[in-house]
Amino acid sequence: MNPIPPISGLGSAVALFLAQFTGEHNSLHPAGPQASDIEWLYWVIFWIIFVAFILMITGFARAAARNRTQAAEMLPIMSDPEGDRRATWAVSSAVAITVLTLFAVLFMSVITGKKVEGRTSTNPITIQITGHQWWWEVQYPSPQADQTITTANEIHIPVGRPVVILTSSADVIHSFWAPSVNGKRDLLPGYSSAFWIQIDKPGTYPGRCAEFCGLQHAHMGFSIIAEDDNTFKQWEQQQLKPAADPADPEAAHGKQVFATHACIMCHTIRGTDAGSRMGPDLTHLGSRQMIAAETLPNTRGALAGWIIDPQRIKPGNHMAPNLLEPDDLQALITYLQTLQ
Ligand code: CUA
Repeated sequence: MNPIPPISGLGSAVALFLAQFTGEHNSLHPAGPQASDIEWLYWVIFWIIFVAFILMITGFARAAARNRTQAAEMLPIMSDPEGDRRATWAVSSAVAITVLTLFAVLFMSVITGKKVEGRTSTNPITIQITGHQWWWEVQYPSPQADQTITTANEIHIPVGRPVVILTSSADVIHSFWAPSVNGKRDLLPGYSSAFWIQIDKPGTYPGRCAEFCGLQHAHMGFSIIAEDDNTFKQWEQQQLKPAADPADPEAAHGKQVFATHACIMCHTIRGTDAGSRMGPDLTHLGSRQMIAAETLPNTRGALAGWIIDPQRIKPGNHMAPNLLEPDDLQALITYLQTLQ
């Protein structure tokens, strides 16, 4: 028998229980209505299991105590029809109570699911999330092409407003999970679905891919940044602009490097000739906190390490190493940092 599964199962149950006293971002710190519904269900099930656990341990303790006295006296086994009848009755009622309880939990689970799904709105913000190995494409669609925002891994939303998330995948099955915002949602290739989120308190809410999707599944993070209406509108306006033309000569040289090396084969920078959608849109890369799907901070050093040898940081990812001259690399990073 392999002892690992029960231990890790118990471990994760204990970890989740302890998490409520430590981390800010887990299912037990709901940030919006959907997560609150799920938290309610968690506690209902928790207390049912807790009561069942106490009853079971009490039963075991009583049985153990009784058996010890009988073993000492070494009584012969005698037929006891009255005792058998009581035992049958006790076991049958315990089975009945267990089945009824499980049906009650199933019922509450369905009700909660319906409630989470039912929190819709006629005036939501729509965001299209596409899973890629191993990053998240984030689009704010609009009927006008020039009003569509495309970014990656960092999802800005206004506080207190319903948001509908449309899902899809460019390659394999991924799963979008921000524990304090909503339950897990699978992103399936060739299949689009929708779900709702809402965050009522400003802040940054981390999320991860929750479905094994290949080598870098563990480095497929994202964050949802909930901000007040004005800050969100400013962000929106900024993201709609094409990239500004570099003002200083070093950044201008960096733009040249971008256009004449492998970068242009995979990335878009709106306002330039770069228009490939293989990798993340970099038009406003400088405005993001992190790079490589929340793997590295968006700093000069991290950008340099990533551009030169992304395979060292996320082995197996789809970006090739770039052997740039030091001057070219520095200029490229300066240019990327101007993309605010
Ligand atoms: Cu994407 Cu795991």
